[in-house]
This record gives sequence, C-alpha cells and structure tokens, in this order.
Amino acid sequence: MAKLIDGKAVSQKIKEEVRDEIESKGLDVGLAVVIVGNDPASRVYVNNKKKACEFCGIKSYEYALPEETKEKELRDLIRTLNNDPNINGILVQLPLPKHIREYKIIKTISPKKDVDAFHAENVGRIVIGNYAFLPCTPAGVMELIHSTGTDVDGKECVVIGRSNIVGKPMAMLLLHENATVTICHSHTKDLAEVCRRADILVSAVGKADFVTADMVKEGAVVIDVGMNRNAENKLCGDVKFDEVEPKASYITPVPGGVGPMTIAMLMKNTLSAKYLQS
Ligand code: GUN
Repeated sequence: MAKLIDGKAVSQKIKEEVRDEIESKGLDVGLAVVIVGNDPASRVYVNNKKKACEFCGIKSYEYALPEETKEKELRDLIRTLNNDPNINGILVQLPLPKHIREYKIIKTISPKKDVDAFHAENVGRIVIGNYAFLPCTPAGVMELIHSTGTDVDGKECVVIGRSNIVGKPMAMLLLHENATVTICHSHTKDLAEVCRRADILVSAVGKADFVTADMVKEGAVVIDVGMNRNAENKLCGDVKFDEVEPKASYITPVPGGVGPMTIAMLMKNTLSAKYLQS
C-alpha cells in the first residue's frame, strides 16, 4: 500500500508562506494573466491561478483576448506589460492559437517577469544552476518528492516525456540534486524495462492509463503529472492508479497531486519577481 502524497496540503502551506510574507512586509505584487481564445481547460487553469493570487494577496490583471488576436498585437501587449511597474510577473497561458508562434511570444516576455521560466535566458540559467525562477511544475514535483522525506541524491530517476514545460526541466532539477536521470519518450526502446529501474518515476505524457504496474519497481516513488480525461470524461493522470498504487511506496493522486503545486510555485515565483525588480 502506497502512501498518498497530498499535493493540496503541500501547496496550501506554500501559498500561506507567500501570503504571510506579502502581508507582513506590506508588499504590492502584481501578476498579469494573459489568455488567448476559448480553450476550456486553459480557462479553468487561469481561473485557478487568479484565485490563488487572491488568496496570497497578489493583484491579478487578466487580459482575455479573442482567438483571432494577431501575433503582433499580443507581442505589443507583452511589451506594455514589461514596462508597467505594477506588473511583476507575466503569465501567458499555453497553448496559444495555431497562428501565433509560441516561441516569439515567450521571447518577448522580459526574463525578469517570466514567472513560468519559459524564456530561453531562464531555461539556460536553469541548466547552469544559476536561476532566478524555477519552472513551476517541475519545482512543484521536487517539493512533493521532498515532502516524502526521500533523498534524491544518487537515486535512479526516470522521467517519461520530454516537453519544454515539464520533461526537460524536470530532468535538470533532479540532476541538480545528484540523481541519475533518464528521459524516456516515444522512441525509447523497451520503455517498461527502463521505467522499472526507477526509484523515482515521473510521468508527464498526457495519456490516460499509460503507466502500468509492469513499468514500476516495488517501492518506487511515483509522480503523475498527467491531466487527462478518461472514456467517462473523468479527470485522471497518466498512471493506472489502481494497479500501480500497491507497488509504489508513495504516489500522487490526480486530481490533488501535482496540479495544485504548479499554481503554488507560480505564486512563489511572482513574489521572487517582485524582489528581483526592487
Ligand atoms: N499550459 C500548461 N501548463 C502551463 C504552465 O505551467 N504555464 C503556462 N503559461 N501555460 C501552461
């Protein structure tokens, strides 16, 4: 029987720390939240981010733009926000509509206000280990691993998925703590065998029921970053929870695992951005 990792509780504590610091120091902190188009999942994420801002005492400024917004219009808005002293952090919710090049948009965000840590300058700083911001989801996963008391040093860690948002930076953060890290992806040969080596297995694939019991070592820590809908339209992760849970020592549920951590780390980054700009 695995112990459940309670992402709600861990994230709540982090948000309370951010709130208490903002309150005790009387800081004025602002986050611009930009959403383009009508993606329903993005709308839910943005609403949750705004709610967390309210809890922490961060002013959120929403910019909801229509689907047909031109790339130049969005870049012009970002340039305005870059120069606005009331705005400490800029978050552009991804994915963007197809006609807008994400890399152009990310490049336009001032690295000092890039609270997602997506800008190439911040990605480079993460690789070097001299960072201003940690990428929210991987940083949240590290917090969850730490909450179990697991020492990452020297552990075999396997990350499934190589996205810029999760897989690649996740591997870097594990490496910074002296893990031996393997990144798996769609071309990996004998995925199950590689995954079975993992003391810590992180799945960021985006497919329901992708991680099955035969891919998990007895006693592994299993972190599920997936956020999917199953055949019954129920929210679920990448991990086939019922069969993996008995083998794991610790496991994150979906929902209530990694999801709330991403938002808590965003709050933390927004506070860091405030300090960076003062
Ligand atoms: N879309 C999915 N995850 C994220 C995230 O962490 N940040 C932003 N901006 N968009 C996302």
